[in-house]
Amino acid sequence: MLGAAAGGGFPQWNSNSPASRRSRQGDPAAPACTQSSIAVSRDGRRWVVFNASPDIRQQINDNPPLHPAEGVRHSPISSVVLTNADVDHVAGLLTLRESQPFSLYATSRVLSVLAENTIFNVLNPDFVVRRQLALEQPFEPRTRDGEPLGLTVEAFAVPGKVALYKEDASAGANFGSVAEDTVGLRITETGGDGRSLFYLPGCAALPAGLKARLKGAALLLFDGTLWRDDEMLAQGAGVKTGQRMGHLSMAGPEGTIAGFADLGIARKVFIHINNTNPVLLLDSPERAEVEAAGWTVARDGMELEL
Ligand code: MLT
Ligand code: MN
Repeated sequence: MLGAAAGGGFPQWNSNSPASRRSRQGDPAAPACTQSSIAVSRDGRRWVVFNASPDIRQQINDNPPLHPAEGVRHSPISSVVLTNADVDHVAGLLTLRESQPFSLYATSRVLSVLAENTIFNVLNPDFVVRRQLALEQPFEPRTRDGEPLGLTVEAFAVPGKVALYKEDASAGANFGSVAEDTVGLRITETGGDGRSLFYLPGCAALPAGLKARLKGAALLLFDGTLWRDDEMLAQGAGVKTGQRMGHLSMAGPEGTIAGFADLGIARKVFIHINNTNPVLLLDSPERAEVEAAGWTVARDGMELEL
């Protein structure tokens, strides 16, 4: 778990909330979190990073398995897979310049966003190969040179929204969002027993088809942006609801905790947690409530084995 927080991290740079203040003061019950990303490895040597957060430099430094280990220039990061084009998931690509080979996977829609923002050309195509992932078609992430990394990944569309900076206000209720804007991922060991890790850092609803797909999973890492839909408004921290931002909230009859209660998922972990969400505070009643409901709240540096 490289980064457990949503965009902005915790504490967010301009947040003066009581929670952010506690975190800055070093309160152990308000641990700081970097922005949304995980790294997965089959062999412990070569890693696939899922989403490249603006904090990736710190995340690499904080996690020894991601440290360079050979020669003058090296990285255990062999591949990067993106679930959407949000700033918290792509800005870290700019840190991964410096002529280091890796492969980059995203949907055609997300790849087109990278292509039209020429700053991403700092990823020299002589070193970084961009590969398109198609929905519902399992693929094996590979190194730049084509070596498989022992993992199989399948992307599927989930309810969501186009990245904020791509919203088209004239395009109706969902701002011109299309299926490939937000994907969830199923990650398995290639040739393994089929146990699945599902990674959905952004998801706006739980339709029956999505529930059926996730049912019985070994491990679910799921969108924990907000505790309740109007939390940012209630705290005076913003004008948008979770639904407006493309995120399901944890609490309430329509919330994530209720929605996943009967799906037989062995381990459920909230990730992509916004700095306004009270579950970030270890001593909050909301934290006790999610844990009593069988959820784990992710923390930076947490390690999970499938
Ligand atoms: C989100 O997860 O909704 C986005 O990362 C928000 C943003 O672009 O700041
Ligand atoms: Mn985000």
